[in-house]
Amino acid sequence: MLIKINGIDLDYRDQGTGLPVVFLHAFPLNQQMWTDQLDTLQSRCRTISVDLRGFGRSGGSEGTVSMDQMAADVRELLTALGVHQIVLVGLSMGGYVSLAFYRLYRETLRAMVLADTRATEDKAEAKERRHRFAEKVEREGVSSITGEMVSALLGHTSIERRPAVVQRVRTIIESNSPAGIAGAQRAMAARRDSTDLLSEMDLPVLVISGAEDNLTPVAEADSMRQAIKGARLKVIEEAGHLSNIECPDEFSGALVEFIESLKGGE
Ligand code: MLT
Repeated sequence: MLIKINGIDLDYRDQGTGLPVVFLHAFPLNQQMWTDQLDTLQSRCRTISVDLRGFGRSGGSEGTVSMDQMAADVRELLTALGVHQIVLVGLSMGGYVSLAFYRLYRETLRAMVLADTRATEDKAEAKERRHRFAEKVEREGVSSITGEMVSALLGHTSIERRPAVVQRVRTIIESNSPAGIAGAQRAMAARRDSTDLLSEMDLPVLVISGAEDNLTPVAEADSMRQAIKGARLKVIEEAGHLSNIECPDEFSGALVEFIESLKGGE
């Protein structure tokens, strides 16, 4: 469904009733990556997913995009939908946007799930790599980066034994535009460090990590867990960076358990 938000068309899905759970996707994917989780959860809660600015069917920005802008788009969408309190689920780039959302709109959050993500900013070398990547995708198109992205995002179990997962990830990546992907890469290079937020967090947080995640390894997830008071860590075996696509039942099961625990705490 398209809605005009902050000057662009934003595509979102809003299904089910009850506690609103909002899903923010990874780079360079879009909300299609959440299909399994939406199917599992929508009989228990209200599920809202969104194509972040520049991805899927959402419009792109003129000029620079930022994690804060993406968080502001989500906040405006919630206002338009009349939603006041959410559980926010962000995977990787979705996690960076979730941390920006926490900084800006803490009052809207009931709980958070930070999956395959990190709070630290990029080192100079990583920023440089992102700028080169952005130029390449603009110059040569999305298919020029699909192969390297698939190898980086998926764990070795998926690459060796789950051809349907590999194909699905390729298809989702290639449904995005070069401009949207380049803009988000530059936005991630410019994102601020959010490590300071972790020790302030005063809400239930579940950290999830794929055991085969090479981009944001389990050790990094565990250091986030340690920094956030009361946070829990769920490690998903035989999953890489896209743990929700690679092992959908385990990921959704962890979400259901976390969300049920929140209801118990009310
Ligand atoms: C993602 O999956 O969103 C990306 O790996 C994030 C990043 O490039 O830092």
